[in-house]
Amino acid sequence: MTKPDKLPLVVLISGSGSNLQAIIDQAAAGLAVEIRAVVSNRPGVRGLERAEAAGIATRVLDHKAFPDRESYDLALADLLDEFQPQLVILAGFMRILSPLFIQRFRGRMLNIHPSLLPKYRGLHTHQRALDAGDSEHGASVHYVTEELDGGPLILQARVAIEPEDNAVRLAERVLAKEHIIFPMVIRWIAEGRLTLTEGRVIKDGKALEKPLYLTDTGAPEP
Ligand code: GAR
Repeated sequence: MTKPDKLPLVVLISGSGSNLQAIIDQAAAGLAVEIRAVVSNRPGVRGLERAEAAGIATRVLDHKAFPDRESYDLALADLLDEFQPQLVILAGFMRILSPLFIQRFRGRMLNIHPSLLPKYRGLHTHQRALDAGDSEHGASVHYVTEELDGGPLILQARVAIEPEDNAVRLAERVLAKEHIIFPMVIRWIAEGRLTLTEGRVIKDGKALEKPLYLTDTGAPEP
């Protein structure tokens, strides 16, 4: 089988889809990916409109129609298989995935999380960073493993917390960084420069000992 020249993706969303939009925009600007489908667990969300506007296939798999997590995840995995993605992108997909699902896509699934992991796994990350009096916050891209928001970290971006910040303002600045780091990591994978091998992140032939950080010039550094 010949390798497709564009990396086939499926993007999972639950809401606004601004990270999806960043990937769509980069793909239009030459990022070698083919977004084969956008799947949402919620009907009627803005991210589905964004996908349709870009001519991408959309599917809604509403979790409310399933009796439990396992049956939902099984249906989701079967749906994804229809599109044969080499990479599954969780772009604001607000559901916990069961181990069976994760094992099926191990090493082929990325998540973006709005905090400097391992800080603030889970929800309300911006408010929690403010409540803790942190001086900086940010976002992380990581491979997905069974541990919630706990898989191997790839790239992070920091955002300074300002005295007049609230969760909404802070979230906006973090989101702007998300839109840079997520397509950047996808690009490395599309270029064959990044893998998860035996549980380790390998970038340009070297195991990462710690996550890379986006710098002010946009170039990642250890
Ligand atoms: C983003 O901030 C993303 O990091 C977060 O949801 C938002 C989705 O925004 N994801 C999580 O919290 C996952 N635990 P978007 O729909 O505009 O891309």
